[in-house]
Amino acid sequence: MPVISFANAKGGAGKTTAALLLATELAHQGFRITIIDADPQRWISQWQETSGEVRNIEVISEVTVASLHCHLREMASATDYFIIDLAGARDALVTTALGLSDHVFIPVQGSAMDAKGAAQILDLLAMMKEKGRLDIAHSVVLTRVTSMVTTKALLAIKGLLAAKGVNVLTTPIGERTAFKELFESGGTLYSMDPSKVSNVEKAKDNVRAYASEVLRLMPTRMTRTAVARLIGLGRGVA
Ligand SMILES: Nc1ncnc2c1ncn2[C@@H]1O[C@H](COP(=O)(O)OP(=O)(O)OP(=O)(O)O)[C@@H](O)[C@H]1O
Ligand SMILES: [Mg+2]
Repeated sequence: MPVISFANAKGGAGKTTAALLLATELAHQGFRITIIDADPQRWISQWQETSGEVRNIEVISEVTVASLHCHLREMASATDYFIIDLAGARDALVTTALGLSDHVFIPVQGSAMDAKGAAQILDLLAMMKEKGRLDIAHSVVLTRVTSMVTTKALLAIKGLLAAKGVNVLTTPIGERTAFKELFESGGTLYSMDPSKVSNVEKAKDNVRAYASEVLRLMPTRMTRTAVARLIGLGRGVA
């Protein structure tokens, strides 16, 4: 039951899209996913209202700093992966969620050099490590990457982040109509009509590669997860 969060202090970086793509792909693969919609704008909750019941996905809305622990505890036994979608902020809820995460993904737009929002989250994680002795694994995921974004520009961003010791996923999330369409029509890429939306198959390939990279970064032992520690399972385990 690892907890995966999506954070970037800047709005519109692609957090909700990256979170929903991961959730729907893992659910399709048979994992039980609980999405914690910790953004007051409720994009994922609205997606669920449009979609109706989606197999293997539960969405929890109206999350507060106080209720977050309870949601994780209550859903732990019925969840393979928690996915937390956060607001484009750096507030108490974001900090609390990061502290409870096994891995934080920081979406950064491939074309935008404005990585200030990402830097704020990286600083916050560094501070938690230094002051709170909480070493939370994290990676940048490049998003909204188009063919217009040159390999050179991407390499430059990757180089900058690597120099700071930040892991960057090899698979970028492309700029795709199908990803936008998920929020319009609800459902998943697998329920989308390929005759109505362009390149659904390519979109699926992109998300499969992204999700498999995410899975490879997850803790291998259940007792080492953040929720296991929260409910006392990991006690005494190194
Ligand atoms: N890979 C993508 N392909 C196409 N459109 C995208 C992609 N990622 C994000 N978008 C679009 O960009 C906008 C912002 O994306 P999203 O809502 O995922 O960002 P966010 O970081 O969650 O924003 P906020 O900070 O407001 O919560 C949305 O209109 C979304 O449809
Ligand atoms: Mg969002």
